[in-house]
Amino acid sequence: MTIRILPVIETSPLTLPSELGFGRYFTDRMFTQRYAATTGWHDAVIGPYQPISLDPAAQVLHNGQMIFEGTKAYRRADGGVNLFRPDRNAARFNRSAQRMGMPEVPPELHIRAIETLVKLEARWVPGAPNTALYIRPTMIATEKDLAVRAPREFLHFIIASPVAPYFAGGFAPVAVYVPHDYVRAVRGGTGEAKTPGNYAGSIKATEEALALGYQQVLWLDAIERRYVDEVGAMNIAFVYDGTHLCTPALSGAILHGVTRESILVLARDLQLTVSEDRIDFLEVLADIERGRITEIFGMGTGAVIAPVGRLGYQGRDIAINDGEPGPVARRLFDELTGIQYGRLPDRHGWIRSVA
Ligand code: COI
Repeated sequence: MTIRILPVIETSPLTLPSELGFGRYFTDRMFTQRYAATTGWHDAVIGPYQPISLDPAAQVLHNGQMIFEGTKAYRRADGGVNLFRPDRNAARFNRSAQRMGMPEVPPELHIRAIETLVKLEARWVPGAPNTALYIRPTMIATEKDLAVRAPREFLHFIIASPVAPYFAGGFAPVAVYVPHDYVRAVRGGTGEAKTPGNYAGSIKATEEALALGYQQVLWLDAIERRYVDEVGAMNIAFVYDGTHLCTPALSGAILHGVTRESILVLARDLQLTVSEDRIDFLEVLADIERGRITEIFGMGTGAVIAPVGRLGYQGRDIAINDGEPGPVARRLFDELTGIQYGRLPDRHGWIRSVA
């Protein structure tokens, strides 16, 4: 399918604020295409970034049928722009679509839409260290109907936002609270899908964590409330004895993070042993006390690698690595971002140069 390109009045001059934050500014253009059960995907267009008009009875507003994604474009030192594993992003988008009963987007079209948008908006890719153009593909059910059933009309859109890392402190460790009263997802539910309900359900728990002086919530499994799932905005990894990296296995309730998947590869490259396991949080606490867990860090597209400095659990506040970022997180961060920003060779074929 051809993507039509409409004329757009561009922001001029473009001066990006020094404090970008995360998802506060948006480029001049967006991609949209529509789906109808009778015709499939059609009307692929890149036009002005603008509000979306929806019927108040649109199914997304009532049944919450919506999925989204996150991927980034990185400014290289030579002025060019890299995408990182857009094929994995397209695959996860379709995996979410399947789970939520939504139509898949041909991966080639998903990637071409991102590439074309980024090429047209290349001047919005920021150049300051660790900044990027965050790309947010999204799909919503637009059919006017309050019945809970598979809709026949959808809108797929892609917007883009110049961002700093998700956590304002950059590589400064985040404090993570482990709630006992709330859970995120159960196996067979929608925890593997990138769908807003997973995030909406986390907001109250995160607000409570913030009030206690923590920034994020670590979710335990929903049945026994004992095994580690993931953190609000990222997957999580534990480093044992400085040499072994362990992350929760993809249990059916955990997001299949592209950053997670990449870190596991890079950790093996760095001669760390790697495992994906069921991780008992009570054993984590014991292993921190014994000094066996030397680091904990989160990993995600928005968060990149975010060291965890403190854990809050049932009135206890537990420091990890004396609240400092650890050497394994640092080395993995340098490797990952080195590849993303083109400072290191792309030895795994993860980069797509778009400008
Ligand atoms: C991402 O890392 O892309 C996400 O979607 C997480 C979000 C909370 C920023």
